[in-house]
Amino acid sequence: MTFSEIARISDDTERVSAVYDIFNEEKRLASKSAQVEFLTTIRIISRYLKPGSKILDLGAGTGAYSLYLAKAGHSLSAVDLVEKHVLSIRQKIAEQPDLDILALQGTALDLSAFAAGSFDLVLCLGPLYHLDSRQSQQRCLEEIRRVCKPDGHIACAFINNDMVIATESLRYNSSFLLEDSYDHSTFKVEDFPFVFHTVEACRVVLREGGLRILTEAASDGLSELMAEKINSLDDASWERWLQYHFYTCEKPEFLGSSNHLLFVCANDK
Ligand SMILES: C[S@@+](CC[C@H](N)C(=O)[O-])C[C@H]1O[C@@H](n2cnc3c(N)ncnc32)[C@H](O)[C@@H]1O
Repeated sequence: MTFSEIARISDDTERVSAVYDIFNEEKRLASKSAQVEFLTTIRIISRYLKPGSKILDLGAGTGAYSLYLAKAGHSLSAVDLVEKHVLSIRQKIAEQPDLDILALQGTALDLSAFAAGSFDLVLCLGPLYHLDSRQSQQRCLEEIRRVCKPDGHIACAFINNDMVIATESLRYNSSFLLEDSYDHSTFKVEDFPFVFHTVEACRVVLREGGLRILTEAASDGLSELMAEKINSLDDASWERWLQYHFYTCEKPEFLGSSNHLLFVCANDK
């Protein structure tokens, strides 16, 4: 199926599932360059965790964060819209039955499976780059706020519109700048197969959702643009690169130079 055929599918689950028939989520975080996003996110959210925290991983993909956090001793509920992602998490749980993880297929727009105030931390590292209307984004944040404890925390990831122009044109598609998949005067990229936000647009979505932003981070920085270079680093140099990335990723002047953005918010506005 082509992207334009997928874009015409009206059912959310079928459309998102078709997107992930093209993008292999199982392999997304496998390379050195992609691990930067994972390790940065873990490093930042860990500041907000206590031993045995109750965590909801919404848009859990194939479970990279859920498995890691459950191994660190936390209690996880993993929810994803795509059935094959949930089945992959369940298979991993079956291989490690001591882990405290519940994996459910479901949507971020309806968390009625969970009581109010259930979680210390809610991860929303994916749904906000698939929900394409302001109404659905706000519905998602409303549900997250309800299931999060009043003194709990909420971590949201977005894809950064302004960096996508650089990575698409310089890494993936040398004709991209001349094509029509973005507005040539505003540089707003077409919201499919993912939904793209500028840094300021992310802040507006979160504030309108009643969240108080505590931390903002360039979670992968230059990693996607420079993936080939980063992947060719030896282990010692990559470790240094990672330390350099940690040093820069919360500096406001680096925030916009990142494909993924991470915001950790309080639920107590
Ligand atoms: C790029 S993946 C990210 C997976 C993982 N959270 C990570 O950061 O590696 C985005 C995930 O969000 C899921 N997703 C998209 N829309 C969703 C929704 N409305 N409710 C629940 N999950 C959703 C997709 O199925 C996909 O697995």
